[in-house]
This record gives sequence, C-alpha cells and structure tokens, in this order.
Amino acid sequence: MNHIKQQIDALREELNKHNYDYYVLSAPTISDFEFDKKLKELADLETRYPEFFDPNSPTQRVGSDINKSFRQVQHKYPMLSLANTYTEEEVTDFYNRVKKGLNDDFEIVCELKYDGTSISLTYVNGELTQAVTRGDGVQGDDVTANVRTIRSIPLRLRGSDYPAEFEIRGEILMPWSVFESLNKEREEQEEMLFANPRNAGSGTLKQQDPKIVASRKLDSYLYYLLGEDLPTDGHYENLMKAKEWGFKISDATKKCKTLDEIFAYIHYWDTERKNLPVATDGIVLKVNSLTQQRNLGYTSKFPRWAIAFKFQAEKAVTTLESVSYQVGRTGAVTPVANLKPVKLSGTTVKRASLYNEDYINQLDLHINDQVYVEKGGEIIPKITGVDTTKRGMFDAKVDFIKTCPECGTPLVKDDGEAIYYCPNETGCPPQIKGRIEHFLTRKAMNIAGGSETVEHLYNAGYIRNIADLYTLNWQDVSRLERWAEKSAKNLIDSIHASVSVPYERVLFALGIRYVGETVAKKLALAFPSIDLLQNASLEELVQVDEIGDRIARSIIKYFGNTANLDVIEKLRSFGIQFELSESIVAQRTEKLKGLSIVISGTFERHSRDEYKSMIEQNGGKNSGSISSKTNYILAGDNMGPAKLEKAKSLGVPIIDEDGFLKMLE
Ligand code: IVH
Repeated sequence: MNHIKQQIDALREELNKHNYDYYVLSAPTISDFEFDKKLKELADLETRYPEFFDPNSPTQRVGSDINKSFRQVQHKYPMLSLANTYTEEEVTDFYNRVKKGLNDDFEIVCELKYDGTSISLTYVNGELTQAVTRGDGVQGDDVTANVRTIRSIPLRLRGSDYPAEFEIRGEILMPWSVFESLNKEREEQEEMLFANPRNAGSGTLKQQDPKIVASRKLDSYLYYLLGEDLPTDGHYENLMKAKEWGFKISDATKKCKTLDEIFAYIHYWDTERKNLPVATDGIVLKVNSLTQQRNLGYTSKFPRWAIAFKFQAEKAVTTLESVSYQVGRTGAVTPVANLKPVKLSGTTVKRASLYNEDYINQLDLHINDQVYVEKGGEIIPKITGVDTTKRGMFDAKVDFIKTCPECGTPLVKDDGEAIYYCPNETGCPPQIKGRIEHFLTRKAMNIAGGSETVEHLYNAGYIRNIADLYTLNWQDVSRLERWAEKSAKNLIDSIHASVSVPYERVLFALGIRYVGETVAKKLALAFPSIDLLQNASLEELVQVDEIGDRIARSIIKYFGNTANLDVIEKLRSFGIQFELSESIVAQRTEKLKGLSIVISGTFERHSRDEYKSMIEQNGGKNSGSISSKTNYILAGDNMGPAKLEKAKSLGVPIIDEDGFLKMLE
C-alpha cells in the first residue's frame, strides 16, 4: 500500500511542477498529451485508492461535482480598496504626502492594476485552505472549490521557506482570448453576452458548478501578502519570494525611487498594456517598506501608503447617423449604431453595439445625436452617453423596430427577456441561412462549407432548408459562379459523409434554440430517438438533468412547427441518424426510471462521473442536492456531515456503491 501512496505523491508532485511551468512560467516542458496521460494515471489511482484523497491534488483542478451555495466567511484582515487618482498632479501629491509623512528615504513599488475580481487566498503549512471573494470587504463568499480549478494558483507551495500561515491577495481574471471565444459561443446560442472579461470572470467564479469554472480557463495575478511572519520587511521582496513559492506575480512589478521613474512607468504601461493577455485599468503605487506602511497607516477608508492611478478610458465624440438591425440564426434582433467614422485608440470606429431596446431607451438616443464612444474593457466600442445640448429640435428619437427588417414579420419578445425575435423561423432569409450555416459546422455535421457557400447556394435557389443540401449534386454546384469542380465535389462528398454523424450531433445540428452541444447529448441519452424526443411532454423533458423550463419549451415549440417536421422527415429519408447508436442503446435500461439519486463522497469501484452516467443510462436522474424528492443517496467515503444530517432528517435511504451496483444487475 505504501508504494501506492509514494506513486500517487510522485505523480502529484510531477503534475504540480508541469502546471507551474505551463501556467505560471508559460514554459511547458511536456506535451499536453503526456500531461493528460499522467493526470489520468493519477486519477485512476485516486479512484482505486480513495483513502489517499486530497482536495489539493492536481486532479481536483478539473472540478468536482459537489454542488453548494457559497458559505459566507469573515475576512481575518478587512479587504480594503485604494483611493483612485486620475491625474499626474494627484500622483505627485501622493508622493509628496508620503515624503512628508515619513521624513526618510523610501521606495515605491509600481504595479499594474488588474481589472478582475479580487480574491483572498489562505495558505496553511503550504497548502491552499481557503479562497474568499472580497464581498463587502468584511465578509465574502467562500469560493475555494472554484478557485482550486484555476491552474496558476498553487494548491501546494514550492520550497519550504513560506510562513506557516499567511494570506495572499490578488485578482482572478479571464484572459481576453477566453472571453472572446466564450462570447462567440454565447452568441451562437443567442445567450446574453458578457460586456467585458471582468463580468465574465466574476460570473464564472460564482458558478455553482466547478466544472464550468474549470472549463473557462481563468488566470490570476497576486499582489499583496498578509500575515504575522512574512519573510522580509519589503513588499517587493516578499512578492519575489511568493513568486518562488509558485504564485503568478506580474513581471511588470517594479521598484522606483523618483517621481520621474514613476511617470516613466505610467507612460510605458499606458500603451504597452494593450498587448497584455488580460485587462488592466491602471497602475498601483505602494510604499515598499512594511514598517513605513505601518507608520503611514490608514484613513477611514484607504491605506495612506498606496494609491491607484486609473488610465483614461479612450473616448471620442461623433455623430449617430443611423441604427440598423441584424437578425441572427435564431431570429434574435440586435441593434447596431452606425457612426460617423472616428479615430479611437488607433482604429477607426464606424459602428457600436447597442445591445437591446432597454439600452437604447436608457441613453434616450436620437438620430444625429453627438454620442460619446468608449473602448474601455470592451472589445466592441460602446456608446456611453449623449451630449443632449447639441440635439436639434427635429432629431427623431430612436424607436426600436416593430417588424423584422429582413422579412417584415412583427417581432415578439418573451416575458422578462430583453431581446426581440423574428418569429418567422422558416421564412426569414438570415434565419434560414444561419440555420444552414450552423448545420454545416464542425461540431454539427462537419460539412465542408461556410457562410459563403450557403450564400451562393441560397441565392442560386438550390437550398431553402437543411434537407435541401442532400438533394445537391456536384455538377449543379460547379456550374455556380466561382465554384471549382474540386470544391464542388468536396462539398458533395462531405454532405454524403454526414449521414453517419451520430444522433447527438444531429440534434445539435438542427439548431433548436438553447440546444447546445451538451444539452443535445443529454437529450440524446434521455430520448434515444427523435420520435421519443418529439413526443416528450414538458414534464418528461424537465426531468432530464440540466433541462429547465426554458429549454423544454423551446423543444416543444420546435416540434410543434410542421415545417420542422417536414425537414426531419426528408432528412430521415436521406439516411440521417435519428437514433442513438446501437451500442449505447444496448446498455440502456429503465431500472432506475423515475428515481432521483444524489451522489455524495468518494468511491472505490467507479468515479463519480461514471456513477452519474450509470444513473442516466438506466433512466434515473442524478440530482445535485438532497430534497424531499430524492429517492436515494449513493454515498461513498467522506460524505459531508451536513448532507448526512439532511438525509436523515428527510428519511432518504442511503446506499453504498455495492448496493447501487446490485440495483443495476
Ligand atoms: S492592492 C490595501 N494591487 O484594485 C491594498 N490592488 O481599488 C489592497 N487591484 O481591491 C489592494 N490590481 O481588487 C492592489 N496591483 C494591485 C491591484 C489591485 C488590481 C484591485 C483590487 C483592489 C482594487 C483597489
């Protein structure tokens, strides 16, 4: 047994090192593939030997599926914020105040001000024990489970010269690249977009499901240590120590002595920050010596030993020429401002996002208005205000359109939603083309074509719905303008090949509103053929894990439309897969039909995820929290005391893994 523990420890240590090389140093020494192989090896060992479970094991980074609402935790030291300054005069004033207050030599540490969500991490004996958000500064949310998934945050420190107990504070950030692809995904699903990486990051950190957090690839920068016995009296020197322990400390951190050096730093980063992978909104200046910090002390709200200098959001004033409306694949109508072209941070801005009707009304926008355009933390510039003094008497108020700009159908809006839709799903050109484009994508039917292909084929009158694709032949296609024979053949070949795309991807490809990839998989497992799905009632649909009322209603609406049913029949006649593959179906049973089962603790014979799929495969429902509707709790080792208490008080029977596996025999 001892050698197993050694093997586990060695793997954990090795994986921690690779995580550090990859996420902190950005210098990996092994391939992702090798890393995943080792991680899997460790995960397998941990599943087989649950007595060696450790919440700080690198395997826990992928997020456990324990659901919980956040516990409120009191901060040991309140989480203060900084006084903001906006001008160089204010920076000079700060410097002179410090000089006068100390009457001695001093150094100023210049840092970037990261624009994310602040977090306070506690380490005891080198292990991460707690991660708490700022909250109201006095108490915050315990988001430890989520923070454990962030790869640049060490779960166990390197070296040995760290204090037995200390806190380190910093910022959790969503990198621009992750933010952009997340928003792209949300746009495809026609979900509300995040306005900036800060909102997206803090929204992610507050997710109940650490798996989602793990998938969003958050990053971190740490900038403030607190504790009784920190290694040195210098803030900068302590940060450099923290870097050795494995924390991500910004390379931009710099010690300065004079005001000139400070201004040079500010000027440099005011432009250079545009090349950083994460959002920053200013510079933070801190007195380096901790003794001097204590001497300067605090005002009622802020430290006297530090200030923030905020960068100016780049702004411009221009004229709103018109508003146009774009219709998306699912009929969502998005308003866009057309502006008189204006230069803003190096690019010419002609358009700005207006989001929805409420946003337009809040701005009280009129055509010809002089509007303020800003490119702050957002990628798409936005209108932040209107100079109403410049408004002419006859300038018309912007009224959100009532009918679809593409097909003239009156628009509709669901209760409580901000977005208008064109309901003419089967007759509105951008919706038809958008649905076909979605059908072609790699994660859907993987057909060799994009928006241009669809545009050509649609304009030639060859396709009006996704089923028409299967009636195309390469001779017709190659006769179209600019189509080489080879690409026409490629297209037709890939269309033919798509008949073997499995049912769950076909479900995704149909483009039913709110049915993304994951939902499609869940639906395919719960309803192994399209006929079963089509006949499912609202009650049956919401029984499925993660399918709520909104998705269920959208599915019912989709199958209520005879044009969609026609298309499905045609697709069926071309041989498209509308049933779950035999091998998956063969394993399905109804042994757990109607049973709601909560999984808790750690297991020996299978992983939690495996038990979860077994429940679903056998017709049961895996639910995250215990309620009066729970039929069983499948309990492994270390079931939480609160869950045990709740199960007892509700009289829910608890079964162990052997008992559960017997139910399936
Ligand atoms: S020091 C008592 N350093 O900005 C000093 N804060 O208004 C505590 N922030 O709450 C903060 N980058 O969320 C510090 N390099 C940095 C920072 C930073 C971003 C955030 C932090 C803080 C707020 C201050």
